[in-house]
Amino acid sequence: MNLVILTGAGISAESGLATFRDLGGIWAQVRLEDVATPEAFAADPARVQGFYDARRAQLRRVAPNPAHHALAQLEREWTRGDVLLVTQNVDDLHERAGSRRLLHMHGELKRARCLSCGADSRWEDDIRPADACPACGAAGRLRPHVVWFGEMPLHMAEIEAALAACDVFVSIGTSGQVWPAAGFVRTIPPAARSIEVNPMTTEVSPAFREHRRGPASLEVPRLVAELLA
Ligand code: OAD
Repeated sequence: MNLVILTGAGISAESGLATFRDLGGIWAQVRLEDVATPEAFAADPARVQGFYDARRAQLRRVAPNPAHHALAQLEREWTRGDVLLVTQNVDDLHERAGSRRLLHMHGELKRARCLSCGADSRWEDDIRPADACPACGAAGRLRPHVVWFGEMPLHMAEIEAALAACDVFVSIGTSGQVWPAAGFVRTIPPAARSIEVNPMTTEVSPAFREHRRGPASLEVPRLVAELLA
């Protein structure tokens, strides 16, 4: 029995990272057009770097919560097939909890990508204007390794193959407003089980067969215990 788990900002909310579209969320504080598009980076790179520098720095002050830990436990203990964790989150809380079979479809705050050679490299600190690419040495050519609006999400071929072969699809803490992730539930085999974990009804709730209406820190450990039983 193969599992695909999709996570969104809601799974990290109880760790202290703001979601995007909830009341007071990130897109209520800054306009996404100003910080999350290639055009914004071309027009004002310092502003865009500053936005992601602050979010990268924030990762030092937060820790994984019981939902992240439960998914890592699921990967460790699941013996009846494959488990793939797909996250839209750019934070590193899944890996810090111990998840290894993990794809960051929207990139990672802790990586920087070189506009000259295309390589992405581990990056812990601010990206400063003169910083050199660890791979090719070019200076001043680094951008955050995050997917902006208008860009292609990462790892799509691997994700689509896993979805087509899954028996259980679980979506946790995502509003279902950003594609292609919002459409994943419609691409799983007709007989597959689909479970949405979210305290709120979302745009894609009708496409799921089962709903767990509650915070991820409670609902995910409960669901993982059921799956492993
Ligand atoms: P959103 O902010 O759109 O949605 C967060 C979801 O989490 C909402 O449906 C909330 O109801 C739910 N939620 C809040 N607290 C929760 C909790 N404690 N437990 C479980 N769920 C909770 O975030 P995403 O759906 O992740 O993309 O947004 C998708 C993408 O839009 C992001 O990856 C980002 C953003 O623009 C890029 O930056 C490319």
